[in-house]
Amino acid sequence: MAKITLSIIKADIGSIGGHIKPSQKLLETVENYVKEKGRGFIIDYYVGFTGDDVAILTTHKRGVLNPKIHKLCWDAFLAGTKVAKAQGLYGAGQDLLVSAFSGNVKGMGPQVAETEIEERPAEPFLMFAADKTEPGAFNLPLYLSFADPMHCAGLILAPTIKKGFKWVIMDVAYTKADRVIELVTPEESYDVAALLRDNGRFVVESIWSRETQEQIVSASTTRLHNIAGKYVGKDDPVMLVRAQKDFPATGEILSPYTIGHFVSGFMRGSHTGPLMPVKKNSPISYFDGPPIVSCLAFSIKNGKLTEPADCFDQPYWDYVRTKISQKAEEIRRQGFSGAAMLSMSELEYTGVMETLKELEKRFKVRRK
Ligand code: F6R
Ligand code: MG
Ligand code: MG
Repeated sequence: MAKITLSIIKADIGSIGGHIKPSQKLLETVENYVKEKGRGFIIDYYVGFTGDDVAILTTHKRGVLNPKIHKLCWDAFLAGTKVAKAQGLYGAGQDLLVSAFSGNVKGMGPQVAETEIEERPAEPFLMFAADKTEPGAFNLPLYLSFADPMHCAGLILAPTIKKGFKWVIMDVAYTKADRVIELVTPEESYDVAALLRDNGRFVVESIWSRETQEQIVSASTTRLHNIAGKYVGKDDPVMLVRAQKDFPATGEILSPYTIGHFVSGFMRGSHTGPLMPVKKNSPISYFDGPPIVSCLAFSIKNGKLTEPADCFDQPYWDYVRTKISQKAEEIRRQGFSGAAMLSMSELEYTGVMETLKELEKRFKVRRK
């Protein structure tokens, strides 16, 4: 059977009233573009939003990093940007960092997660999209879903899962090329943890089954401020995760999102906030946040998608959201102090540097 490629490409191309959400007209324009211009070479598609970001999921047979697929999404974002400009939306075209398309959108601003699969008889997969945070936000949940039996019961109960996983982790501080390491769990799980503790530096790029050699996870690793060299918004990642059978179950993959772990992002991409699992097409609000993550589950047959099942639209997650709101409120109570605001190297607004430079001149060393 021919292989099927799943591609998620996501970008912030403008939103209503600040960084709340894209307009209906913008979304329709992006969706219609993909539908019309993708005819004949994409099998199926889904367009939705998470906070101020629009995500395009396509299924096709052209493999990963395919120029035609990437150009389709890039041009759909350009069409959406035109609408954003005409409507006066905020941050129109924000994530389209270069003026001309060249080959694929990696390194051009949008976030990308893709995988080419041999469809299993039943092929459930999850599409994650996060806003007001960074790619490392998926580090902890992935570790817990794939290496910790406290969340992944399959590590104890299912022999094929117990065999463990291969991790490909990227050093995103290295900008000249892709710098990656391969590690296996369970044998090297402490080494994986040693890297994944540093969300700003090391990011999971993919996870593979040691039982079947198949790719299970593909996550985006692009850091916009490494590309642009200046503040252009946070890097709001996307991720594809295949589920069930020889892979962790959907519920095991969702389980860690009950924590609302603290991540970088929030207001001005410069604060710490808890990651809140939200329903599909949720806006951003409190303190340009909180950092949010949506998750849509799909099934697929010969590349044809079902409608999405909204994983965080269930009463349990209302309770989780209330608890995470309390965490958000708690850290916001300390405003700019200490752990609430990011360290100098992670700040995305550099105005404070100029203030410090000015103040530097006024410091005096007291002679004893
Ligand atoms: C964070 C984000 C917002 C903006 C903030 C200020 O990712 O997009 O928090 O940083 O709204 O935006 P400007 O400086 O454009 O007014
Ligand atoms: Mg934005
Ligand atoms: Mg965003």
